[in-house]
Amino acid sequence: MIFGLLLHVWAAIIWVGGMFFAHFMLRPAAAPLEPSIRLPLMRRALARFFPWVWVSIALLLLSGAGMIKLGEGGVHVQIMMGLGILMMLAFGHLYFASWRRFQRALDGGDLPAAAKQLTHIRYIVTFNLVLGLVVAAIGATGPYW
Ligand code: HEM
Repeated sequence: MIFGLLLHVWAAIIWVGGMFFAHFMLRPAAAPLEPSIRLPLMRRALARFFPWVWVSIALLLLSGAGMIKLGEGGVHVQIMMGLGILMMLAFGHLYFASWRRFQRALDGGDLPAAAKQLTHIRYIVTFNLVLGLVVAAIGATGPYW
């Protein structure tokens, strides 16, 4: 139980913390660069972050389901699971649609198309960042209400 909870919070911290860093630190720091430098930089950074998001998703689902099996439950867990799955679907869209198109555009040297896809990625990351903070707050405070 405690082990599951540990994996669960670590996964949440890595995913939500990574999005916070990408949105509030990396993106503004890279913004003044020329697109020919900025877009490949964002690609290298995100290519290192996204595998960690997949690991986090797997851990959140496994540990979450495990804790439910061990008897955890309640409205806060239902809300967490619903919103958590919404975050995962949004990430799936980001990864399999926008991220793939972004890489293909960069490989083809089409910088404006790549920049457009990166904007989509940013919208989804912003959505998931807000949702992630809300879900973490619900998960952590749930037992008290
Ligand atoms: C999607 C499927 C998910 C399931 C099935 C699930 C399930 C659970 C369960 C059973 C607990 C223990 C509840 C309790 O102690 O009363 C928990 C706690 C928690 N979950 Fe989730 N969860 C999911 C997704 C997420 C996501 C996406 C996040 C954050 C981004 C998250 C953040 C947390 C936090 C912060 C806690 C509280 C840890 C603590 O006790 O301090 N969960 N979750």
